[in-house]
Amino acid sequence: MPMRMPLPKPFSYSILLLLLFSFLSTTISTSFDFQSSGNDLKDVYPEILRDEAVARLQQLGQISDAEGYLERTFLSSASVKAGNLIRGWMEDAGLRTWVDSLGNIHGRVEGRNASAEALIIGSHLDTVVDAGIFDGSLGIISALAALKVLHVNGKLRTRKRPVEVIAFSDEEGVRFQSTFLGSAAVAGILPASALQITDKRGITLQDVLKENSIDITEEHLLQLKYDPESVWGYVEVHIEQGPVLEWAGFPLGAVNGIAGQTRLQVKVRGSQGHAGTVPMSMRQDPMAAAAEMIVLLESLCKHPKNFLSYDGNCKSSILESLSNSLVCTVGEISTWPSASNVIPGQVTFTVDLRTIDDTGREAVIYELSSRMYQICDRRSVSCTIDRKHDANAVICDSELSSQLKSAAFAAVKRMRGEIHTELPVLMSGAGHDAMAISHLTKVGMLFVRCRGGVSHSPAEHVLDEDVWASGLALLAFIETQL
Ligand code: GLV
Ligand code: MN
Ligand code: MN
Repeated sequence: MPMRMPLPKPFSYSILLLLLFSFLSTTISTSFDFQSSGNDLKDVYPEILRDEAVARLQQLGQISDAEGYLERTFLSSASVKAGNLIRGWMEDAGLRTWVDSLGNIHGRVEGRNASAEALIIGSHLDTVVDAGIFDGSLGIISALAALKVLHVNGKLRTRKRPVEVIAFSDEEGVRFQSTFLGSAAVAGILPASALQITDKRGITLQDVLKENSIDITEEHLLQLKYDPESVWGYVEVHIEQGPVLEWAGFPLGAVNGIAGQTRLQVKVRGSQGHAGTVPMSMRQDPMAAAAEMIVLLESLCKHPKNFLSYDGNCKSSILESLSNSLVCTVGEISTWPSASNVIPGQVTFTVDLRTIDDTGREAVIYELSSRMYQICDRRSVSCTIDRKHDANAVICDSELSSQLKSAAFAAVKRMRGEIHTELPVLMSGAGHDAMAISHLTKVGMLFVRCRGGVSHSPAEHVLDEDVWASGLALLAFIETQL
């Protein structure tokens, strides 16, 4: 029986920081510098795990729907092209491949016992707009690099359980504002109603699939769900997207949990009019109302204790954890008709809201919505607030995490000959496919250091040596656990 994930429990960043601090005090003086290691390279496979993996990341990073910057959204033509390339790399690693009805690319080897529970390793092939080349792609490519090493050494087909790599078709949710389309389908948590969600051009998910020759019915969607009894666990390698590992001087870190998140879409409708003729006192300006709501959001998320009462809707532990972990963003705003001499008729903006505390997240959404509606009433504009996406916080499986930690130590030992027993442990503020897959099986994640903690930006960068370390850690994990 695969282990079930425990229910997410609220925990605070301060515990995490304590853990991290205790790690730093023991290891910061031994930060790594792979260039100077001068180790014997025979069992660390730099050609496959570093050179080829980095070249593939660069190649994939060129496949874009946009001129001059990287953008691959769900089943766009660049995504299809990227998927085909990944499929070829899966075959090159000795895997049997297929594409499912949600555009996920699968590559699998059965090992010695095809009916044993499988290890799934995955990440996503879609990107944000103006993305970096590592977010998502690194997890797919380092998994394929590790499996290719086993393949060329004749050790792939002798694993004791099946291994499957999945390149998920949508994690960022840029096209439909509903993240994890690919992994949610595999986990069996994508409702049939998702087929009718629309992108900005009004095209439904079902039509996008049809355009790609995938005729999907509700029944097909249900069939995508994996049987939990057939899965042993899920592992995802991902760039950290934050500065902690770089600060700690360590290439890899273990992830103990992923913050829960909600995405809202707020529509504000006012009275469209002439910018030169309508007196200020007679306007119903949705832009000014949206601006007030956005500033409210910022204040609430910076100082939740000032907005949520202790004895009312929130316990003190929840307030504490919100104060430590709540982050909110308005990343997208559009106006109609969007002309400098027109008072807009409508403004639409998104809210992305995250915290490790699921109960606290609900309290924040309740408080935020009621205060936003008050602003709308006072300004005589009409507002709707739609929840577009919700994902509860996830706690990673402790056993899987400790196996991944040991694999990270083994990678570092192979590369540097150094023995370590401590590794940074981090909480993820970013969402990952592991969140959806936690509904199917136990999940574990490894983070990889990135320069300056920068991500969701073309400046995103991972050292070649750290790409290598991530592949080597996955290799060590598979060799010891499978
Ligand atoms: C995905 O990268 C997210 O956290 O939004
Ligand atoms: Mn991302
Ligand atoms: Mn990602």
